Amino acid sequence: MAKRTTQFVCQSCGAVSPRWVGKCEACGAWNSFVEEVGGGVGIGSAVFGQKGRPMRKGRVVPLVELSGEIAQTPRLESGIVELDRVTGGGFVRGSALLVGGDPGIGKSTLLIQAAATLARKGARVVYVSGEEAVAQVRLRAERLGLSDAPVSLAAETSVEDILTTLADGPVPDLVVIDSIQTLWTEVVESGPGTVTQVRTAAQAMVRYAKESGATVVLVGHVTKDGSIAGPRVVEHMVDAVLYFEGDGAHHFRVLRSVKNRFGPTDEIGVFEMTGGGLREVPNPSELFMGERDGSSAGAAVFAGMEGTRPMLVEIQALVAPTSLGTPRRAVVGWDGSRLAMILAVLEAHCGVRFGQHDVYLAVAGGLRIQEPAADLAVAAALVSSLAGTPLGHDCVYFGEVSLSGAVRPVAHAAARLKEAEKLGFARAVGPKLASGEAPAGLRRAAVAQLVDLVTRIAAD
Ligand code: TYD
Ligand code: MG
Repeated sequence: MAKRTTQFVCQSCGAVSPRWVGKCEACGAWNSFVEEVGGGVGIGSAVFGQKGRPMRKGRVVPLVELSGEIAQTPRLESGIVELDRVTGGGFVRGSALLVGGDPGIGKSTLLIQAAATLARKGARVVYVSGEEAVAQVRLRAERLGLSDAPVSLAAETSVEDILTTLADGPVPDLVVIDSIQTLWTEVVESGPGTVTQVRTAAQAMVRYAKESGATVVLVGHVTKDGSIAGPRVVEHMVDAVLYFEGDGAHHFRVLRSVKNRFGPTDEIGVFEMTGGGLREVPNPSELFMGERDGSSAGAAVFAGMEGTRPMLVEIQALVAPTSLGTPRRAVVGWDGSRLAMILAVLEAHCGVRFGQHDVYLAVAGGLRIQEPAADLAVAAALVSSLAGTPLGHDCVYFGEVSLSGAVRPVAHAAARLKEAEKLGFARAVGPKLASGEAPAGLRRAAVAQLVDLVTRIAAD
């Protein structure tokens, strides 16, 4: 019998150590090492009974001859446009995806809806739930009005049992595993939910996807600190990683792709949570605009981009005299250090002082913006709030601000302006554009320096 080996595995990043250590050298996490028995990457192959099997000759194919084969592996469109946009046009056959998100964010709902939509179109879909009993999944489908969809349900947590179940009958088009943290395999002695278990189980499922040609979707829960517990090690194995996010206070959810071997990684899909399940939001600008009347100071509309899609978002600022020695700066939905930078540029180059003021900044609807192109809209909202001057309800802002106070051009200006015009905006303030980039119906004001923006707002 093989010798039992004991090792310590970091539950945060999967690093292995022969001894217990307090701090993980690889990821810096404290107190994250747990003793696990056996384990190790190679053990996953035992799932397939390949221990000691005779060696097999592989197949080498010239690249050009493959074009025909690829044409025959079309994507599996879910029919949920926002989901297909994020995957890059549908699930790729034989690929494995990880869908991560906080518990309760709506991962199971999204995947049951996708599974049911696909099954109604004739695809063979198996939904394996390790968290809920079959009856509970059925109840949920009933609540969503999807109980008539021919989805096969299974409540299993053992990888060996799942693979045996799947091997019985024709190969499914889509297999959903909800969730990866509940899976366990007999070949590893560590407890369910440990990194070694999650990794070995995921490896088996990824291999199943590649060998059978079915698309496998693994659901993973995120821990409080933002990493997917254990499944962070799964990210490297799968072909695509999608995050489902949103905050509890708002009713919309964003599906974001952070890794995709077969598609773009900057696309997002927007959904609204309703009593009857997730509803697609084809025109998200309307959702993120807040209730606008244009008469209150401190609100600026940012003409943003999410992937290939333009999206207008309202940015709200509140600048109020402080009663504290060190004024407060609080940000929701944007980068705090970027706010500090804009405040510094406003002080240094435009003579606008915030030293005696608290500054609060929020992105409407709870959306998270990462684009530097929002700098100009943030500056406009800050100056407007400080001066008590409303910006007018028909104007959008975009442009990156450099430390020297210059307003720099950003990508996709034409698409941003078109979206603004479509939604009834009449004016746009941004960097100077090449001629012919702007739609005819929009009046444009070019600002080369941030100070020009401050003078414009003061003159209003
Ligand atoms: P659920 O899909 O179970 O979240 P997760 O799988 O990520 O843990 O959803 C959590 C709860 O929210 C569940 O009770 C159903 C409810 N819900 C709705 O009522 N409407 C919706 O559109 C969504 C997404 C969820
Ligand atoms: Mg769930």
